Amino acid sequence: MSDSNISDRLKSLRQKLNRHNHLYYVIHRPEISDQEYDVMFQELKDIESQNLELITIDSPTQRVGAEPIKDFKEASHPYPMLSLGNAFDDGEFLDWHQRTSGLLEQDEFRMVCELKYDGLAVALTYEEGVFVRGATRGNGVVGEDVTLNIRTIKSIPLVLDNRRPDKLEVRGEVFFPKSAFTRFNDARIASGLDPYSNPRNSAAGSLKQLDSRITAQRPLDIFIYGLGYAEPMVHSTHSEAMEYLGSLGFKTNPYNLTVETPQQVIKYYKDHLKIIESLDYDCDGVVIKVDRFDLQNHLGTVGREPRWAVAYKFPPNQSITRLLDIGVNVGRTGTINPYAVLDPVEVGGVIVKNATLHNEDYIRKRDLRIGDWVLIERAGEVIPKVVKVLEERRTGIEVEFHMPTRCPSCGQDIVTPYGEALSLCINASCSIQLVRRLEHFVSKNSMDVEGLGIKFVTVLVEKGLIDDVSDIYYLCDSDLLELDRMAQKSVTNLLEAIDSSKSRPFYRVITALGIPHVGVEVSELLTRKYGDIDALISSKEEELIVVPGIGPKIASSVHAYFRNETNLQIIEKLRKAGVILQDQGGHVNRELILSGLKFVVTGRMADLSRSKFEEKIKGLGGIVSGSVSSKTDFLVAGESPGSKFADAESLGIRILSELEFLELIESNLPVNN
Ligand code: IVH
Repeated sequence: MSDSNISDRLKSLRQKLNRHNHLYYVIHRPEISDQEYDVMFQELKDIESQNLELITIDSPTQRVGAEPIKDFKEASHPYPMLSLGNAFDDGEFLDWHQRTSGLLEQDEFRMVCELKYDGLAVALTYEEGVFVRGATRGNGVVGEDVTLNIRTIKSIPLVLDNRRPDKLEVRGEVFFPKSAFTRFNDARIASGLDPYSNPRNSAAGSLKQLDSRITAQRPLDIFIYGLGYAEPMVHSTHSEAMEYLGSLGFKTNPYNLTVETPQQVIKYYKDHLKIIESLDYDCDGVVIKVDRFDLQNHLGTVGREPRWAVAYKFPPNQSITRLLDIGVNVGRTGTINPYAVLDPVEVGGVIVKNATLHNEDYIRKRDLRIGDWVLIERAGEVIPKVVKVLEERRTGIEVEFHMPTRCPSCGQDIVTPYGEALSLCINASCSIQLVRRLEHFVSKNSMDVEGLGIKFVTVLVEKGLIDDVSDIYYLCDSDLLELDRMAQKSVTNLLEAIDSSKSRPFYRVITALGIPHVGVEVSELLTRKYGDIDALISSKEEELIVVPGIGPKIASSVHAYFRNETNLQIIEKLRKAGVILQDQGGHVNRELILSGLKFVVTGRMADLSRSKFEEKIKGLGGIVSGSVSSKTDFLVAGESPGSKFADAESLGIRILSELEFLELIESNLPVNN
């Protein structure tokens, strides 16, 4: 190639790659495959390696990190990077609005609502359209020059087209996506490193690497939330400026909204509080900004806080409280599960009194003692958990916890199977286990007996009307009429509900039996493979192991269940009562946990191929479609999720990482959106 051909080709490759980079990382609408991108990238690298003098700082090859540096240079901010005053409830926000109205001498002024991202503030400087400096906030006046690290963030443009001003500084928040954080921490743990405590800390750790090649391996991302300065300055409002920055290729947030009234702000806050869990980045509130720049200037700044903006914070999802006691309850398989009894405390807007402690190991590893001050966290709908003990608050009166040696329900000895972290009550006639088993047997995903809730189940067991789950099919009018507050009408209704549950599909009967490790999905597999109870009873362990989706743990559990005489007697009683114990043909997947829910799967999955993953969803009754629409219930996002991610975000659709999805289906609880 001639010199001019080389430089033309370089220019064209860089332009193309920068464009595809923007399509992929900023607006999530890729037009070419990863392979096509890689081919172009390789060509650029090859030409550059033959022509080192032609490498430019805006070349996409310059995102991969450079030689380590000794220290970060200082970076002073021409205009200070401000912080924000806070409001913690509607009243405090309305006070801010009223104060601002007073200062502006007008009741109404346009505002912009934005999410408050919980990451690290940075300022990005462009000269003649080329990215020249990336700086952290530091003390607001002087930060650190982290240009080499910032350059590795793919959603930051390295060059801007000629609609840009000569000089430009934009400000934004760098963050570590939550789904990537989970994967990243899993990998750290697997290689024996300590995990980072949260995405914000790992974003900070990544941005402050002296070796930018390490930063380049971290999937950092950014939302641009404002203009530092522009020369020339042509926009007169924040919303216009943000739109313009978006059009220049910066990543702005799809939830930014311009509003007129404080009531609209409160609605925005409430609406977004509901969806933050489903976003792939942490947010700790909403930022409200006066839209017009002239009004912003008029309002000015007090100390480091502008009067023209306020952060209305979301309730924290972590709180500190006292561990008053450790209780234990008994599960349906006899597991003794410890739980924390907490001094009631508000976490993320909900009062929390208990938290799960899983097993004795969990308590030992955290060295939890009764009387300790503990940090509690509530994430999503998940049961609250104890994150850690505040050891510095110990006074010496805290008491170590010991697992009881006897079952709190039946008083029999508790055993710990060799090599397991479990404590078990192995008394087959332990009444609380029977309550739990019956509760499970009649539950929605199992025999679905309407009107048989936990209270009633307990009464039936306590009154001695039930010795095993099959006994519900032998209850009669007179048994139930004897019970408190049971009128003939309710008795008839209940007996009818019990009777109609006899014709539930066979896979639901298998689920109802409560075989350890056998939920709806495995019950379906067993139904497909064996078709009726007799074939299942005589199944062999080695035969079960090879069924796709059933591993040694499940196989041994199923095998052991059907070798137990009491269990076989229960099955005989079910048969005699008229419960259907064979597959009636047709589709198996009726009321499954994902029944009727619409899924879109995007990105690469770590454990399964995409098609296997989609099969899994379908197997659980879910519907898989190729594109995101307002009808989509969940987006499951693997690595490099592409445009569907942004589509789902902008429609407020719940986004699950691969891990979250697997946790969800393993919980075996019916999912609703
Ligand atoms: S505006 C007055 N907008 O919050 C201008 N900041 O507490 C201040 N932040 O240092 C920045 N999301 O790191 C603004 N949508 C948003 C933001 C945001 C997060 C952070 C930013 C800033 C801190 C101030």
